[in-house]
Amino acid sequence: MKYLVTLSLAAGLSVSIANAVPGNLAARASYPTIRRDVVVIGGGSSGTYAAVKLRRMGKSVAVVERQGAFGGHTTTYHVPDSDITIDYGVQGYGDVDVIRNLFASFEIPLDQVPLSETGFGIPNYMDFRNGQTIPDFNFSTALAGFQAQSERYPYLYYSTRLPNPVPRDFLLPFGEFLAKYHLENTTYNMFYNLEGFGDLLSQATLYVLKYFNREYLAVLDPDYEGALVTTRRYNQELYERAQELLGDDALVSSRVVSATRSNSGVRVVVRTPNGSRTIVAEKLLIAMPPLASNMDPFGLNSAERSLFTKFKASGWYVGLVRADGLPESFAYQNTRPDTRHNLPQLPALYQMSPTVVPGIYLVRYGSLGQTPDATVKRDMLRTFNRVRTSVLGQQSNQFRPAELLAFSSHYPFNLHVATNEIARGFYNKLDDLQGRRSTWYTGAAIISHGTGALWNFTDNLVDRMYEED
Ligand SMILES: *[C@@H]1O[C@H](CO)[C@@H](O)[C@H](O)[C@H]1NC(C)=O
Ligand SMILES: *[C@@H]1O[C@H](CO)[C@@H](O)[C@H](O)[C@H]1NC(C)=O
Ligand SMILES: *[C@@H]1O[C@H](CO)[C@@H](O)[C@H](O)[C@H]1NC(C)=O
Ligand SMILES: *[C@@H]1O[C@H](CO)[C@@H](O)[C@H](O)[C@H]1NC(C)=O
Repeated sequence: MKYLVTLSLAAGLSVSIANAVPGNLAARASYPTIRRDVVVIGGGSSGTYAAVKLRRMGKSVAVVERQGAFGGHTTTYHVPDSDITIDYGVQGYGDVDVIRNLFASFEIPLDQVPLSETGFGIPNYMDFRNGQTIPDFNFSTALAGFQAQSERYPYLYYSTRLPNPVPRDFLLPFGEFLAKYHLENTTYNMFYNLEGFGDLLSQATLYVLKYFNREYLAVLDPDYEGALVTTRRYNQELYERAQELLGDDALVSSRVVSATRSNSGVRVVVRTPNGSRTIVAEKLLIAMPPLASNMDPFGLNSAERSLFTKFKASGWYVGLVRADGLPESFAYQNTRPDTRHNLPQLPALYQMSPTVVPGIYLVRYGSLGQTPDATVKRDMLRTFNRVRTSVLGQQSNQFRPAELLAFSSHYPFNLHVATNEIARGFYNKLDDLQGRRSTWYTGAAIISHGTGALWNFTDNLVDRMYEED
């Protein structure tokens, strides 16, 4: 029992919180109990934003994160024996206040870089199946036509709710949407701006509009200032600082085993590396991908289950490859000369690009659904070696095979549901869950994968969690 007391004091246990917790929930606590105003599930982009905001509002909060560190899609590699860091997940941000403000609050400086200087440069186009380059490859990079459509739906940037009836264009497979607006020659460019989307052309246009939003379009606009990047090129620093701020309230390498939820509070049993804990809280904020498999421990009712079981996701995987002997211009994008829009057929490596360190390359890989990490890693390296051999010829034999220095899976990416479900009001039903059974939801599946939209939405949601008391 000594342990329990220590934890409670560290949390600044307040009588009012304890009293707000229904007796039956408190009494059933079977592991050392932590009491918090809010328990956040997921220490990725939106969970971290929410936890920091709640803390700064004076709320007590615990974050449960499966991985060993916060960051979600943000991953930074530290080059051994140097101060050099390479971001191999999230690269940059749109220029919006929520982004500038959060970085500023942790004194992490930002730069604004024009797209032409983001370091990826212009790739060579190659068929990765056989290493044949495609000279004179043309495609349209014009975005004005898409942007004009995007501007018709400003609410997609900040709201989960959709009009009833749902606009027909949202339901069109994206390939048909491009044809409808005579934008087919932008298909290849769209595909590469929407990596991680799996079979882009069959995807409901709604998802493209939500991800490829005004903030993303502004970053790509040649007349605009470009993307925000961290001056130290160390995107994970934000998450490290947030974790420090939360201290023992950042329960990393931990997962939820079971939960009970009611309108007066929640009780969540969490397995941590230091043993099991019961977290009793007034509110629960789900900030992880709400796939049914992730939501299972939360004791779903039938309305919740019928929504979460409908989600499907695509696979996006990134890594850093070390390989010697390659020319400075070694930057390739996977391109099929024999298909209508020159798109590679997934699963496949999207591209390989140089980083600030000579001999270290960023690779990104896409698949339609989940692919085992080991399969992806093997295919990444095989493809890289094949391309290297085609570039260097016989000379490539003198170099060691390419080696994977870092790898990160972004599966499950782009949670989506069938078009007929969207038409039947899926997203309004999802939004209707907000606040029910003391449970709130944020994250890419609820709003967008774009960081600005995620933080904007999360900022407003946290306010709503307390307005509606
Ligand atoms: C690119 O455009 C040029 C000129 O319009 C054309 O001759 C060439 O065939 C095109 N290349 C490809 C790969 O489509
Ligand atoms: C793409 O298609 C549009 C509309 O058909 C046309 O105006 C434009 O010139 C095309 N762009 C290129 C680069 O082929
Ligand atoms: C586990 O305990 C160690 C040592 O007390 C502490 O540093 C660590 O943060 C704890 N981890 C969790 C997830 O509570
Ligand atoms: C979020 O977006 C809305 C709509 O664009 C805007 O009015 C609001 O100021 C934004 N909130 C934050 C915190 O950036």
